[in-house]
Amino acid sequence: MIDKTKSIMRVLAGEALSPPPIWMMRQAGRYLPEYRATRAEAGSFLNLCYTPKYAVEVTHQPIRRYGFDAAILFSDILVIPDALGQEVRFETGTGPQLTPLNFDIIPSLNHDQFDRHLAPVYKTVSLLRERLDPSVTLLGFCGAPWTVATYMIAGHGTSDQAPARLASYNQPLKMEALFDVLVAASAHYLTKQIEAGADAVQIFDTWSGVLDDEGFDRYVIAPTRQLVEQVRSTYPDIPVIGFPKGSGYRILKFIEETGVSAVGVDWNLPLNFIAKEIQPRVPVQGNLDPMRLIAGGEPLKKGVKRILDELGAGPLIFNLGHGVTPDANPDHVQEMIDYVRAA
Ligand code: CP3
Repeated sequence: MIDKTKSIMRVLAGEALSPPPIWMMRQAGRYLPEYRATRAEAGSFLNLCYTPKYAVEVTHQPIRRYGFDAAILFSDILVIPDALGQEVRFETGTGPQLTPLNFDIIPSLNHDQFDRHLAPVYKTVSLLRERLDPSVTLLGFCGAPWTVATYMIAGHGTSDQAPARLASYNQPLKMEALFDVLVAASAHYLTKQIEAGADAVQIFDTWSGVLDDEGFDRYVIAPTRQLVEQVRSTYPDIPVIGFPKGSGYRILKFIEETGVSAVGVDWNLPLNFIAKEIQPRVPVQGNLDPMRLIAGGEPLKKGVKRILDELGAGPLIFNLGHGVTPDANPDHVQEMIDYVRAA
């Protein structure tokens, strides 16, 4: 049964709503002064993720300020390697740093240890479930196995994920072992979030666009399909939003073969392609260029209008095409919401 009070759940079930519901990837983040204050109080970024009091607070901040239709659990995709024993640190200014992955000893999944490590995240979800207004959809999430693997292999962010692409050619058997662990860990992690009260989940595959056809099939489609199947074996009706960023035309195959309920779309996909080819298959979520939230003014108004004009008649969750950046103007975020809600 769909909870009719939750607009995002209605769209995920295929309804077209006018105005469309709205939330924003990375909506809890450094562009908000209240986030920066809590972040300073928490000390390290991971302490923010692993302390329910702080994580609940920053999840609420954008809901309180803007009244978004979804709250997304505050955590990070890299808590999975951290819980598997490949320690992660977030250094200010340099992004995430992981201890080197020993490919000969692929971390294995020990459920007890994994759950003990992530218990504060599950606690955060259940506190959010209790405290959020029932009209707000609570989203859980994880990184897709490919995107998480790119950070595990390189040990840090890169511009093109060359180390993981190279490993896919040079060490296919070890990659397979790593992916088996990542699929099982991510499915378990999402299942625990749903058990704690998440209404729907999103799988972030930020780096799906760097692979060729063979790699996309093997490292994006196949593990995502397995992940979706494993989660649905416990929760058959849970909506799963896939976000294969940069996948371009291959998104059609991704939809067909993974079984996701909806897709996040980035701003590289033509709006008429989204309307003609994607919306008839699954609801879409996107796809404003986050730079328009820095620019403001006409570029912001025009960007929002085009999305509403071209996608507003079908099932649409208004969002950005990728996360909001730290230099976005909080007033422009309000303007974006006002334009969408006036539709
Ligand atoms: O959307 C939300 O508000 C929920 C929280 C969330 C974060 N990261 C918080 C975060 C989510 C859903 C993510 C996903 C994530 N994390 C992805 C996939 C989506 C995307 O944006 O591409 C990726 C690739 C990561 C890994 C990651 N986390 C990187 C590369 C960085 C450093 C870059 C940066 O923006 O600083 C992070 C850190 C991070 N995750 C921050 C936040 C708010 C900033 C850290 C800080 O406050 O110091």
